[in-house]
Amino acid sequence: MSGNGLFITATGTGIGKTMVTAGLALALADQGIDVGVMKPVQSGGEPDDPGSDGMRLKAWTGVTDRLQEIVVYNFSLPVAPGLAAELAGEEIEVDRILAALKMLQQKHEVILVEGAGGWVVPLGREWTMADLAVQIGWPVLIVAHPQLGTINHTALTASAIRQRGLRIAGVVLNGLKPGVDDPSIPHNPRLIERFAGVPVWGTVPWIEGGLTATKIKKVFLQHVDIKKWISTLKTGG
Ligand SMILES: Nc1ncnc2c1ncn2[C@@H]1O[C@H](COP(=O)(O)OP(=O)(O)OP(=O)(O)O)[C@@H](O)[C@H]1O
Ligand SMILES: [Mg+2]
Repeated sequence: MSGNGLFITATGTGIGKTMVTAGLALALADQGIDVGVMKPVQSGGEPDDPGSDGMRLKAWTGVTDRLQEIVVYNFSLPVAPGLAAELAGEEIEVDRILAALKMLQQKHEVILVEGAGGWVVPLGREWTMADLAVQIGWPVLIVAHPQLGTINHTALTASAIRQRGLRIAGVVLNGLKPGVDDPSIPHNPRLIERFAGVPVWGTVPWIEGGLTATKIKKVFLQHVDIKKWISTLKTGG
């Protein structure tokens, strides 16, 4: 797919893709870039549940696109989308997702696409989120946790992404809690850069008291450096 965009994956589910996608969107908007967001496939609730990824992305980023333009498939069962689809007797069609993405592209300069779970989450009987990312073809951002274990998770994910021929734009470490007794934490960013061979854009702290767009934007601008990535975008202006 041509145009500007980023595919957001993670080393697992619940690591912070939605939070990081929203933060990036807010940081891009702060630079005057018109950004759209997409969560093509989600599972585990109803589409208009305020806690769903599509609704949170819409609320936090303030995009005016309709929820149906942001979320193409929703399954209520809290299992991987491919299994949820199978159990609901449905099938996810990659062409429908690509068509929706093209529509959204006509309205925005940059699109951020949030995956689901990790890199190899099933979307059908024989295909996964990695296949969708390959079809889209954009660089990939990896969201990982900042603690012990993250070098291994991130390097494995990076290697799987490279195997599929995609470029990795960077890594964002998310959810650093204060006072955690883990001496690996200050060293992990540089060791990820060494062993996974990807730039770490920053470490996002854990935000207390619930997430809001204002708080997310503030921590992103403070802790995540997206200048280099922005310079790779062709904004046509
Ligand atoms: N930095 C943070 N500070 C506070 N809460 C956070 C932070 N990052 C994530 N969370 C919370 O942790 C939970 C998981 O984060 P998030 O929903 O972004 O993960 P995800 O990778 O998008 O998960 P999924 O695989 O379900 O899409 C959410 O409740 C979110 O609000
Ligand atoms: Mg999410």
